[in-house]
Amino acid sequence: MENRPRAWSVRGTNQDAMVSTESSPIQSRAISVIIPTYQEAGSLPTLLDRLAALRDGEWDLEVIVVDDDSRDGTEELFASRGNSWERLIVRRTERGLSSAVLRGMDESSNEILLVMDADGSHPPEAIPAMAQALDDGADFSLGSRYVPGGSTEDGWGVLRWVNSKIATVMARPFTSVRDPMSGFFCIKRSTWKAGAPLDPIGYKIGLELIVKCRCRNVVEVPIHFSTRCEGESKLTLRVQWEYLLHILNLCRFKYPRLASFLPFALVGLSGIGVYTGLLALLDLAFAGSFEPWLRILIAIVLTMTWNFAWDRRLAFWDARGSIVRQYLGFVAICAIPLIVTYFVTWSFSETTVLPLAGLLGSVIGSAFGLVFNWFGNRWLVFRRA
Ligand code: GDD
Ligand code: MN
Repeated sequence: MENRPRAWSVRGTNQDAMVSTESSPIQSRAISVIIPTYQEAGSLPTLLDRLAALRDGEWDLEVIVVDDDSRDGTEELFASRGNSWERLIVRRTERGLSSAVLRGMDESSNEILLVMDADGSHPPEAIPAMAQALDDGADFSLGSRYVPGGSTEDGWGVLRWVNSKIATVMARPFTSVRDPMSGFFCIKRSTWKAGAPLDPIGYKIGLELIVKCRCRNVVEVPIHFSTRCEGESKLTLRVQWEYLLHILNLCRFKYPRLASFLPFALVGLSGIGVYTGLLALLDLAFAGSFEPWLRILIAIVLTMTWNFAWDRRLAFWDARGSIVRQYLGFVAICAIPLIVTYFVTWSFSETTVLPLAGLLGSVIGSAFGLVFNWFGNRWLVFRRA
């Protein structure tokens, strides 16, 4: 039996456990290796040769390279190699790492799917251990820099290191995996198919699969992460922005109530500022021409519209139904706490002076209003699609 690196496992909770190395021999030795590429013609020959060496052993590999119209000689390379088990898919119009990976997974034929970079950062020699982990019962396995035995080649600038650390910490609420940023991972086709629909935004399709396919038992196989030998990294500012959007989507998937209530509270807070500002503005502009009650009414309606627009986008992103109905429903629900605040203020004003009554009334009214408005809108107005 080959000398496999010891693997590190994560099970739902933070309890890490070592995977037994005394496992049964793997049943299916057929693996589909999916490699997304953009301008990697310089790196591909070496990688394909290393994979071929693995194939000469006991592993039946199918290699699928998904290239986004690089026009750098990648197509010629495949034409000249002519191996039936090496396939190139060129996407002429679509772009993006995650969607390229999904395309490769769609076109592959084996039960075990393995995804890796083309640039030589990921050692193909770790593939057997990763596939074996799935056979031993893991839902997901990945090549990890951050478990004992794993490492990163020197030469990462401080900026890239800090970047990677921050991104890893941001993934913490979704998985206790140590290297959730890894683009070197292995999953069964059946696990992928049983998961929730995927959102192929940005770079971190591995993290997306762990969360959406509800992988509980994740095994981390230590790897040495090498610095790419050829070409350039495609990690741009845009990729980092997409990562933030991706994290937001994962929040919405895993913690839907919190991901709705928090923005709702923030929008509510912004509404206080908007309302105060509007009142001051209307006072300045129309003090002579409008009655005070009319100015207050205009400020209330405009503030409600402001809150509605943001809440609809940020707090109730998943709602369906007509916007007019939603608007009327929103106004009706929010009017209730306003009326309550009005009466609370009046009842306090009988026992205390008016400014204090106003303060008490608005604090109690706001706290009640926040919770009431969220529940009311979630249940009655913005129903889920
Ligand atoms: N088809 C396609 N389309 N492939 C792409 C695209 C794209 O738009 N962008 C990047 N790729 C390919 C690259 O050619 C490479 O094979 C792989 O995706 C990773 O891209 P790199 O540019 O080498 O990424 P990196 O080195 O910054 O990031 C690596 O490290 C991360 C961990 O720090 C990747 O392995 C990530 O997957 C990993 O998460
Ligand atoms: Mn790279």
